[in-house]
Amino acid sequence: MTILVTGGAGFIGSNFVLDWLAANDEPVVTLDALTYAGNLANLTSLTGDSRHQFVRGSIGDSALVGRLLRGHDVRAVINFAAESHVDRSISGPAPFFETNVMGTLHLLEAVKAYVTGLEETKRRDFRFLHVSTDEVYGTLARDEAPFAETNPYKPNSPYAASKASSDHLVRAYRETYGLATIVTNCSNNYGPLQFPEKLIPLIVHNALNGKALPLYGDGLQVRDWLYVGDHCSALRRVLEAGKPGETYNIGGDNQKTNIEVVRTICALLDARRPRPDGASYAAQITHVTDRPGHDRRYAIDPTKLAGELGWRPAVVFEEGLAKTVDWYLGNEAWVTDVTSGAYREWVARQYG
Ligand code: NAD
Ligand code: DAU
Repeated sequence: MTILVTGGAGFIGSNFVLDWLAANDEPVVTLDALTYAGNLANLTSLTGDSRHQFVRGSIGDSALVGRLLRGHDVRAVINFAAESHVDRSISGPAPFFETNVMGTLHLLEAVKAYVTGLEETKRRDFRFLHVSTDEVYGTLARDEAPFAETNPYKPNSPYAASKASSDHLVRAYRETYGLATIVTNCSNNYGPLQFPEKLIPLIVHNALNGKALPLYGDGLQVRDWLYVGDHCSALRRVLEAGKPGETYNIGGDNQKTNIEVVRTICALLDARRPRPDGASYAAQITHVTDRPGHDRRYAIDPTKLAGELGWRPAVVFEEGLAKTVDWYLGNEAWVTDVTSGAYREWVARQYG
């Protein structure tokens, strides 16, 4: 049988597909619309691998999804496809609702129709794993307990609202139609192949290009960073042993302020590729106007996933960040490729 990975040409999706095929031989069909964030080059190492097929298309295309599900005897769908950048959702929310809400709705419809036609054993074993975010829970005060699965949804950005809506849809398909859905809510990921609009790759890219390192507001916002490979291993475990109808929070128990993260990246770059003038890259740090509605702190309570499924992260932040910086230093052609054209227009609009 086969798994269908939607959004598998993006950052986490492509890491997931690569990790999956490195770990076992079950075939993967990757469906991706190849928006600005999707990059087929992420999957180049799979060229000619008969276990992998790439299809360009949208999760909103129910007919296409239906053909793929039936044609490949799919046993699970892992849905990564989304518009994912908070700042873009603030400057233009509509695509977030088209993809994250309506796209998910059409995907669920196609999956429901497919599962209805399956014979009983296959229907019982089928899974729909929806990859979501901790941002649906809103923001935490400094001393507040981390997000548990029981926290109420309080999304603050259009992105978070669109992901919250998609989570609710997935839940409704479980409750109403009995679809075997599971939702995961993960904290901030970092690692190879992340588009340099997100904090960590943006800072590496700007530092190396002599540009300002923009920190929103006071830079004391807190994120709970998880290495992308750990997110992938958590998702594999949830797919294997997670209970339909359940939600699992995924996190690295690794809270850092943005200023700490940026300073650590600067120190890593100072050691690996010192600036010609001998100064630290930290000299390029610039405080800029804060993100509207900026969530102050995210933190995940990973107790349920650890207790019920025995999953724990393997990569400590310092090691993961060093690996990530090394990956960007070793893959400058990839960065040049994805930072041409439309990327430059976005940066000009966002940072002036
Ligand atoms: P990304 O923006 O790097 O990738 C998204 C991918 O989805 C791209 O390849 C894009 O082409 C594709 N896509 C967009 N619209 C599509 C459509 N209509 N049909 C098919 N494909 C489409 O995002 P990411 O950071 O890899 O995030 C993946 C998922 O994980 C998202 O659902 C996101 O909400 C969630 N998530 C991300 C993080 C994080 O830190 N990056 C953390 C928790 C959860
Ligand atoms: O928590 C999970 C979420 O993490 C995912 O659902 C999102 O898809 C993903 O983009 C990420 O959202 P954030 O908004 O937390 O990530 P981002 O990398 O955009 O920003 C991280 C922090 O850094 C945040 O507090 C904003 C700040 N920041 C970001 C950028 C791009 C800056 O200070 N300067 C910047 O230029």
